[in-house]
Amino acid sequence: MRALQFTTYGGPEVLRWAEARDPHAGPGQIRIAVRAASVNPIDWKLVTGMMSGGQPLTGARYLGLDAAGVVDEVGGGVSGMSGVSGLSGVSVGDEVLGRGVDTQAEYAVLDAWVAKPPSVDWAVAASAGVAGETAERGLRLLNVEAGDTVFVDGGAGGVGSATVQMAVARGAKVVASSSQANQDYLREIGATPVLYGEGVVARVQAAAGGPVDAVFDVAGKTPVEDLVSLAPEPSQVVTIANFDAARAGARVTGGGADSHPVEALTLVAGLLAQGKLAITVQTFPFERAAEAYGISQAGHVRGKLVLVP
Ligand SMILES: NC(=O)c1ccc[n+]([C@@H]2O[C@H](COP(=O)([O-])OP(=O)(O)OC[C@H]3O[C@@H](n4cnc5c(N)ncnc54)[C@H](OP(=O)(O)O)[C@@H]3O)[C@@H](O)[C@H]2O)c1
Repeated sequence: MRALQFTTYGGPEVLRWAEARDPHAGPGQIRIAVRAASVNPIDWKLVTGMMSGGQPLTGARYLGLDAAGVVDEVGGGVSGMSGVSGLSGVSVGDEVLGRGVDTQAEYAVLDAWVAKPPSVDWAVAASAGVAGETAERGLRLLNVEAGDTVFVDGGAGGVGSATVQMAVARGAKVVASSSQANQDYLREIGATPVLYGEGVVARVQAAAGGPVDAVFDVAGKTPVEDLVSLAPEPSQVVTIANFDAARAGARVTGGGADSHPVEALTLVAGLLAQGKLAITVQTFPFERAAEAYGISQAGHVRGKLVLVP
């Protein structure tokens, strides 16, 4: 099969769509023929080497953490709700979306998945894994409920746009930040938009028109002290992108133990099927992955970038 890969750290120009060894489903896993795989910022961060801890690269590295596709191999012990495997009685030929590793390839192994709703486009389905799970996690950790006001700092990208809509779906009032270019988009998906940058605290307070119950920092750009000043207590600020934020009492989440991928994917697939969550996607053939990586790295994505065969 072919897979997106790199053998030297660098920018998008080091990416190659080239031959790779076929992966196989281990216990509790499935393999899919990939119909679409999304690009997440972690992908270009891996390519640049900024996550390498200064260690040199040995051999080829592969990319991608979520995808949608058709099941073509079922690992041992996957007949029911086993481990984090999310689909009861999954069979070869089923259409699924989910999370895995090295998903930007012709075939990929998933370890958390749900059925793809038939009405949902492949590229949209592929976008749900990381962005949808992260949005669910943030809203759950912040205990956002109907009637609450939540500020999403960085509302227009993959995680942000899913968070805005999932918060609206549960009856929250959402204020979200973006650049000027995405203010109308934020309005379309149900948020009251504010510009990020200098003065954002006052703009959020004015837009909220009352207390802010929770702050989800998706971008990691606003000083954490400013975000804490908006919340009823520091722990009601959760960030996925400012790993220094705990010093101000905010909570940092990187997934892992506080991640409930199957529950999150089930929720997200349901919202997609009901039309309560719409993910704006821009697609690129795998051969043109470098273009998508360049856009992701520039940091102003609206919705999601998705690679397709
Ligand atoms: N810890 C975790 O579990 C976890 C999980 C997923 C992602 N992440 C991280 O979270 C970050 C966001 O991921 P993503 O997939 O949503 O990225 P993305 O799709 O690339 O979106 C980035 C967004 O950031 C916005 N932005 C840029 N500068 C900003 C600023 N100064 N203030 C507020 N927003 C700003 C952009 O809005 P404009 O286009 O309007 O400028 C854009 O919509 C990345 O760093 C990613 O690695 C962490």
